[in-house]
Amino acid sequence: MTKGGGIYPYLRAAAIFFAAVLILALGLAFGVIWLGAGFLIAPVIVLSLLTAVFLVAILYSVFFGAPFLPTDRRNVEEMLRLAGVRPGDTVYDLGCGDGRILVAAAKAGAAAEGWEINPLLWLIARINARRAGLAGRIKVHLGDYWFERFDQVDVVTLFLITSQMSRMERKLRSELRPGSRVASYVFKFPTWPLKAKSGSGVYLYVQETKPEGSVSDS
Ligand SMILES: C[S@@+](CC[C@H](N)C(=O)[O-])C[C@H]1O[C@@H](n2cnc3c(N)ncnc32)[C@H](O)[C@@H]1O
Repeated sequence: MTKGGGIYPYLRAAAIFFAAVLILALGLAFGVIWLGAGFLIAPVIVLSLLTAVFLVAILYSVFFGAPFLPTDRRNVEEMLRLAGVRPGDTVYDLGCGDGRILVAAAKAGAAAEGWEINPLLWLIARINARRAGLAGRIKVHLGDYWFERFDQVDVVTLFLITSQMSRMERKLRSELRPGSRVASYVFKFPTWPLKAKSGSGVYLYVQETKPEGSVSDS
């Protein structure tokens, strides 16, 4: 995503970070293999593992969720407005990226929780929560939201990808308690009746009845 004419700063920072770690690891590996500097083996292993963890996290998020692309600030506010977030609500952002939705929800008086599979983004989200002075109202979990159960939440926010929407619809409709609202940015659920939408691509769904266990995929 571009912002203010430049490459989005976190993506650029992540790319620079990966490139730096990779170059460092390769440089040290060169030292070990060609110069016989055996004492460099430990740093080579650590840096290689670090690179592998981040690459695996990115690949995992692409296959089992959505790649990182932040919601622009205007639509963050639109999601919270459409979902009617009010003080005292609990808001979950599934795949919370840099934590911007969590920070906005906490500013609106909600208790905000996010799940993030990418360790770098998880760290950035925690830093952003702290910088906003809202760490007490924001929890950021490092992990996969598919393994969580969402039966104690008022509002769920999502910015996923088409291929994940059917599975997420089944999960949320079978777990959410009646009255819970879901604001999805860009992507619609295949069968869940739409409650409202904004002109900018935010879709609102409401859990109307008792959780049923499953819904049709068709
Ligand atoms: C499109 S971004 C949305 C970020 C944020 N919600 C926003 O709207 O700005 C999707 C995020 O979900 C994360 N993600 C993808 N699959 C995930 C999974 N299975 N569990 C937790 N996070 C996941 C990605 O790393 C990425 O940060």
